[in-house]
Amino acid sequence: MPMSKSQESVWWRDAVTYQIYIRSFADANGDGKGDVEGIRSKLPYLKKLGIDAIWITPWYPSPQNDHGYDVADYMNIEPDYGTLEQAEQLIREAHELGIRFIVDIVPNHSSDQHRWFQDALNSEPGSPERNRYIFREGKGEHGELPPNNWQAVFGGPAWHRITESNGEAGQWYLHLFAVEQPDFNWENPEVRAHFEEVLKFWLDRGVDGFRIDVAHGMIKEQGLPDITTDPELLKVQKMPYWDQDGVHEIYRAWRKILDSYPGDRMAVAEAWVSPTSLPLYLRNDELANSFNFDFLDSKWDRKVLKKSIVRTIKNLSGLGAPASWVFNNHDVTRSVTRFDLGLKGGGVSTIKQRFGNTKKFNAERGVRRARAGAMLMFALPGGAYVYQGEELGLPEVTNIPQDRLTDPRWKMSEYTDPGRDGCRVPLPWAAAEAGSHGFSTNAELSDQDSWLPQPAWWGKYGADSQESDENSTLNIYRKALAIRKTESGLGDGKLKWVDMGKEVLAFSRAGDFLCLVNFGDPIKVPKGAEVLHSSSPLDGKKIPTDTTVWLRTKSK
Ligand code: NOJ
Repeated sequence: MPMSKSQESVWWRDAVTYQIYIRSFADANGDGKGDVEGIRSKLPYLKKLGIDAIWITPWYPSPQNDHGYDVADYMNIEPDYGTLEQAEQLIREAHELGIRFIVDIVPNHSSDQHRWFQDALNSEPGSPERNRYIFREGKGEHGELPPNNWQAVFGGPAWHRITESNGEAGQWYLHLFAVEQPDFNWENPEVRAHFEEVLKFWLDRGVDGFRIDVAHGMIKEQGLPDITTDPELLKVQKMPYWDQDGVHEIYRAWRKILDSYPGDRMAVAEAWVSPTSLPLYLRNDELANSFNFDFLDSKWDRKVLKKSIVRTIKNLSGLGAPASWVFNNHDVTRSVTRFDLGLKGGGVSTIKQRFGNTKKFNAERGVRRARAGAMLMFALPGGAYVYQGEELGLPEVTNIPQDRLTDPRWKMSEYTDPGRDGCRVPLPWAAAEAGSHGFSTNAELSDQDSWLPQPAWWGKYGADSQESDENSTLNIYRKALAIRKTESGLGDGKLKWVDMGKEVLAFSRAGDFLCLVNFGDPIKVPKGAEVLHSSSPLDGKKIPTDTTVWLRTKSK
């Protein structure tokens, strides 16, 4: 599909976007939860890091059953996090620093505390209020069985039976995630109109774009059919609630709204779909950007990574959409831990595996690999996403006491899957052991008092102690992002593979820039090459194992 002129040069084609998980970023009001003012106080840090944009996870009023992904009001700010005025101020100040601002939009479901859902509960079956969500009669003689066999992502049935106003057991509603997250009925024009209003509300406040939660959800197959119980068919059959054709019509409408605003407003899809389906979301008249989960799902393995990069570039060719590389977010095991333990990125099995697998964990090797991975990612053509704390080399926290786990997965999996809290532990801004390692301004709070406890060793990763060490993870990231800005060949464009043997992944970018990732034994820096940057210190003229170097080859 030909690319429109404007999309050839839009800012997000090669932006490095920093994901802020607001609850765990910085606490300015001293209540043990991050907030808007906390983010504001760290804008200079983000500027110095060298990122181009911020994506902030849901900051809307919410009972926090899924930490903000259960939205009670899409057009306001969670009181624990601040006020709308503070949010507007934050957007303005980020812009003044040249940092773009992306908010998270959650259209598949709301909180059960959303006014619309409360109205639905208080209305009759078949009423317009019920029709904003997906209510159905149950099966069985007395409607005692769920309407179909769908399972919730967090575990258990995807249906919940309500008590009607007459006190009797009544209809069931669909929740693909937690019970407290009822799915909207996107066949209802009222729902569509509401979300268009929500987009405009935030665009009017100057946001540069949206991260779209569960972008492959929203539309369900007509008739809500059972999913197959045949294990073979299950492997190949599309789920009747994911990746349905109808979602694309929604995004075409949204693209028109984005394009009706001045500047280049963007949207990035959180779509866990097959690499062959993904390009549909990336069409020029739709979202044109999406997280590359195929890449995130890769193990620290030369072949696996190369395959994913090749596949990504091939799938994007002809579409005009940029790649958006990502290794970390608030839903997956941190790459330091994952890469060391040889785990894949997403999927329930990985999430289960990450606990109880800590014995073999080698933090030093994990950080080395994660840094090498980051420099690989920053050298690839397209944009990249960095998740807070990644730039500090944080590992997953795998021993949060069970009575402190908060992820709905923990409960819904009947306490078999500890969930995602281990990558969401409040950031260590300071190495100092007292208090919450600089996370909260409240000196009275200990490392156990924030919404999730911090481990005793957290201070080792303190941002302040990384300032003065030129080989700290923080400074490795800063330097990489600075070079990325000045090196004309990085960011958007093409790559060319260079064969340097079985243990090395190497490619050149425009000009004489070469990125080399060494997975094997130490190797010599290629003759005549100038080392621009290295993810770990070189050993004399040798590139150590699990190290990425950026080189200027000088041989044009
Ligand atoms: C994806 C989000 O990233 C995740 O944190 C959330 O639990 C689900 N969507 C449901 O909204």
